Amino acid sequence: MTTSVHAPALDPALAAAAPGGVLVIDFGAQYSQLIARRIRECRVFSAVVPHDASPDEVAALRPAGLVLSGGPASVYEPGAPALNPRFLELGVPVLGICYGMQAMALTLGGEVARTGAGEFGKTSLTVRSREGMFHALPAEVCWMSHRDGVARPPAGFAISAETEGAPVAAMESPERRMYGVQFHPEVVHTPFGTDLLKWFLFEACDCSPTWTATHVIEEQVERVRAQVGDSRVICGLSGGVDSAVAALIVHRAVGDRLTCVFVDHGLLRLDEGEQVESAFGRHFGVPLVHVQAQEHFLRALAGVTDPEQKRKTIGREFIRIFEREAEKLSDARFLVQGTLYSDVIESGSRDAAKIKSHHNVGGLPEDMVVELVEPLRQLFKDEVRVVGEELGLPESMVWRQPFPGPGLAIRIIGEVTAERLEILRRADFVLQEEIRRAGLYRELWQSFAVLPAVKSVGVQGDERTYAYPIVIRAVTSDDAMTADWARLPYDLLERISNRIINEVPGVNRVALDLTSKPPGTIEWE
Ligand code: XMP
Repeated sequence: MTTSVHAPALDPALAAAAPGGVLVIDFGAQYSQLIARRIRECRVFSAVVPHDASPDEVAALRPAGLVLSGGPASVYEPGAPALNPRFLELGVPVLGICYGMQAMALTLGGEVARTGAGEFGKTSLTVRSREGMFHALPAEVCWMSHRDGVARPPAGFAISAETEGAPVAAMESPERRMYGVQFHPEVVHTPFGTDLLKWFLFEACDCSPTWTATHVIEEQVERVRAQVGDSRVICGLSGGVDSAVAALIVHRAVGDRLTCVFVDHGLLRLDEGEQVESAFGRHFGVPLVHVQAQEHFLRALAGVTDPEQKRKTIGREFIRIFEREAEKLSDARFLVQGTLYSDVIESGSRDAAKIKSHHNVGGLPEDMVVELVEPLRQLFKDEVRVVGEELGLPESMVWRQPFPGPGLAIRIIGEVTAERLEILRRADFVLQEEIRRAGLYRELWQSFAVLPAVKSVGVQGDERTYAYPIVIRAVTSDDAMTADWARLPYDLLERISNRIINEVPGVNRVALDLTSKPPGTIEWE
């Protein structure tokens, strides 16, 4: 057996989770991650691996089945990602979706052709055989997105469904345990899609629905124990859900040998520092070093107005303080990071233009000689939240909207001073309270207040005022890469505006940011 030297390395964290799960071989579809998500929703572990991964490495992960994802328009296009035939020889059931089915058909001697006009969107489906994958499924409509299609299935495959534009909308070979669908079972517009995936997982692959939050916790606790042995472990808490959940898993694994360091840079929202202290130190009894560095950061930020310099100053000072604390725990050989699966994927895009220097509080100082412990590496944000709930983390922490490492400093345009921080913190508190009362907090990706560096004239109680405006920023998003400004109801905006002006001294005007991303970014700096 040979391994291609060009095969991309697989994430080492897969070794623990993949056995018994189903891996999605990615041919460049927009939906590859979504397929994996759907499978995980069925409580079976799933992760995406690149189509040019080494089949030996994939086999070594002992998956119970493979899904070949969709991909670009035509299998005949120059440069179209090829299916390594050895993926079909691993002896596990395979489900090809769209391009994945075509690639499978072609590889096994079938024929792929432009079948007609192409089909996009909701399409009626005629089931020809209910012996296999359509057994007991109300399959009448499905969601299509293709031009090419399988014209003739490979030998041994039966056609089990058709549509007007796709004579082979589904094919299957129970003997070889190979199945293909031209439509997309992973999208919600295919109403029986999840049932079909379940059929593949539980009937074809014989998987067990054991991928639950409890299972993730138990498995990760074991893994962490095996990784760190008797050593001491350190974790930087940021106040966000990821580092909190990672810390709690590690705490379960090693108990008092974990020390959490929470550097309060004073740029947090109202009561946030207190919440971390009470959740960790008091409720969970995690050894916690709470570094009160508010003054230190204000001094470091004095006179700094340039956004990049602000970010770098905060990042630098944070790491200095963190390192100083870490030195006191010099026997700590391991550092916990709340890295998510989405971070792992995104770190692959090295060519992306640098827009801002993101500073991840709780992040890794570059020259620290420690080994990383990353118990959330296989999870998406909402899965981390479920695990957090299971661990008993308070709801206010589990469902907190994302908050940038440099905190309120990048929402204060111009210099960060104690006075301006106080104004923003209070305005932000009012805004959050109203958004929560309106039941919108979880629906919004982020909602927050921004303090610009201008003042304007107003009149309050017959007196002239000359004070700051507050800008309301609320966005919807799936991943923060793009975002849309949220259409908040007028009466809610009115309440927020009235309350901010009445309750926050130093503010006499409220404005609304109507910019999506792009062209804006979510944060103002
Ligand atoms: P932008 O402003 O770039 O933000 O559209 C995208 C998402 O990232 C968050 N953000 C940060 N998170 N450290 C972080 O941990 C940072 O330095 C940072 N800057 C922005 C932002 O809140 C949004 O969710």
